[in-house]
Amino acid sequence: MSIPDSVRHEWLRRVEAEYRSSAISQELTLWLTRIGASPDLIHEGLRIADDEIVHAELSFAAYVAAGGSEGPRLERETLGIGAPIDQHPLEVHVLRTVVDVFCLGETVAVPLFRELRQHATVPEARTLLDRVLVDEVRHRDFGWLALGWMLVQPDSATYLTIVNAELPAFFARIKRAYGGITSDYEVSEVERAWGLMSPKRYGEILHRTFERDYEPRFQKLGIDANAAWAQASI
Ligand SMILES: [Fe+2]
Ligand SMILES: [Fe+2]
Repeated sequence: MSIPDSVRHEWLRRVEAEYRSSAISQELTLWLTRIGASPDLIHEGLRIADDEIVHAELSFAAYVAAGGSEGPRLERETLGIGAPIDQHPLEVHVLRTVVDVFCLGETVAVPLFRELRQHATVPEARTLLDRVLVDEVRHRDFGWLALGWMLVQPDSATYLTIVNAELPAFFARIKRAYGGITSDYEVSEVERAWGLMSPKRYGEILHRTFERDYEPRFQKLGIDANAAWAQASI
């Protein structure tokens, strides 16, 4: 059976996304080093940056197995979090990245990849999804550990105010990325075997993640995520 273009397109897009994840993890870890963060966070950040490159390699192997022969097209300006541009101290930029990329992004990644893996039967797709699923749990935990660490620092009251103020925008971004998908397109059996998923499922999983993870995890840190979630329009 022939492999549709959508499979190659998606796997090359994943290679590009993994490069982006590694670049952001490297930059965040450098910032954590500069602010003198706890060494366990720095070790973990360095390990994550390397995991993401392994994910890029394995995603590329799946792309080649699907008949792909191009290289990833990396948009350099999206490959990092960039130098802080406002008057806030570096700690605030660390805080924003931890919440946006790790507490939100890596937390929803766990159930998303679990679902993708469940239906994937092609060995190259399965190899990547097996590895990612194991790693993403650690990446998610890193985010919540880092946020917890920031919220016991001397400026924690300021950080809490910032998270509360910016959470609606972070939720809006992730809803746009996953939850705002209204397409009724259903993937075929072949696409599913290659580790693809229908757009609608992304939205359903994001909403379930709010109830199961975001809300209770923020609650534990003294942050009420309900209002922010409701406010986050896409
Ligand atoms: Fe990854
Ligand atoms: Fe990750």
